[in-house]
Amino acid sequence: MFMPEGDAIAAAKRRHVMNNLANKTALVTGASRGMGRATALALAAEGARVIVHYGRGADEAKSVVDQIRAAGGKADAISADLSAADGAHKLAEQVRNLVGHLDVIVANAGISKSGPIDQMTVKDFDNLFAVNVRAPYFLIQQLMPIMGDGGSIVMLSSLGAHAAVGDLSAYAATKGAIDTMVKYFANALGPRGIRVNAVAPGVIDTDMSSFSKTEDGQKFVLGMQALKRIGQPDDVGDVIAFLSGPQARWITGDTIHVDGGSKL
Ligand SMILES: NC(=O)c1ccc[n+]([C@@H]2O[C@H](COP(=O)([O-])OP(=O)(O)OC[C@H]3O[C@@H](n4cnc5c(N)ncnc54)[C@H](OP(=O)(O)O)[C@@H]3O)[C@@H](O)[C@H]2O)c1
Repeated sequence: MFMPEGDAIAAAKRRHVMNNLANKTALVTGASRGMGRATALALAAEGARVIVHYGRGADEAKSVVDQIRAAGGKADAISADLSAADGAHKLAEQVRNLVGHLDVIVANAGISKSGPIDQMTVKDFDNLFAVNVRAPYFLIQQLMPIMGDGGSIVMLSSLGAHAAVGDLSAYAATKGAIDTMVKYFANALGPRGIRVNAVAPGVIDTDMSSFSKTEDGQKFVLGMQALKRIGQPDDVGDVIAFLSGPQARWITGDTIHVDGGSKL
C-alpha cells in the first residue's frame, strides 16, 4: 500500500507542533528535492529559519523557499556544487555571509551509483566519496565556528551501509564512512553541547531510488520491511527534525535507522 508524500507543514500543524526550533537557523544541503526538501519543510514547521541548499535545481529550491514563506516561515536558497574540491568551502562562505550563526546542519545532499564491483570506475568511486563524504566533512569543519552551543548536526547514512543490498558497494562504503564520522564529530563537539547523529533511511521514494518504482523493486522492498508501504521523504524529514530539537538532547554519536523495520 502506498501513501503519498505528506505536506510536512500541514502535518506538523495537525499534530500541534511545539515550535521546538523557534529562533533557530538551519542549513539543509540538497534541499531542492527528496528527503532534503522534506527535512527543510519539517524544520520550518518547527519554527526554524531554513537555508535551502541546492546544486542544479534552482527552480525546485525556489519552490521550497516559497512554500516555507507562504506558511509564514523564513527561508533562503543558496547553491554550491558539492562535487568540487572547494564546494563545501564555498557553501560555508555563503552561509557565513548570509547568517553568521547556525543552530542546525543537515548534511543530506548525496549521490548514488549502483553496479557490480568489477564495473566500478575510479572516476565514479571518487565522485561518490567527494559528494557523500568529503563535502559533509569539510562543510562541518568550516561551519563549526559559527555553530551555536547546544546545536545539532545530522548526516545521511543508509540501510545499505548496514546490509549488503543490491550492487551498492561503493555507495554503501560512503555511508559507512558517515556512521564512523558522526562518532568522531560528536566527541569533538560534545563539550559545546553540539550533538552529531546520522539517520540511515531504508528505501525511500525519491528520484534516487528509481528501483523502488518498478514492480519487482516494490515487491523486494515490501518483502524486507515490517511495515508494508514504501517509505516517503517526510518519514525521514520528521525524524531529522526530532533529532535537531531539544527532545533528542541525550542522543549523540549514533545512527538512527528509519527504514520501516527492514529485515535483511
Ligand atoms: N532515496 C533513498 O532510498 C535513500 C536511502 C538511504 C539514504 N539516502 C541518502 O539520503 C540523502 C538524500 O537522498 P534523496 O533520495 O533525497 O536524494 P535525491 O532526491 O536524489 O536528491 C539529492 C539532493 O542532493 C543534491 N545534490 C546531489 N549532488 C549534488 C552536488 N554535486 N552538489 C550539490 N548538491 C547536490 C541535489 O541537488 P540538485 O538536484 O539541486 O542538484 C538534491 O537536492 C542522500 O545522502 C542519500 O544518499 C537515500
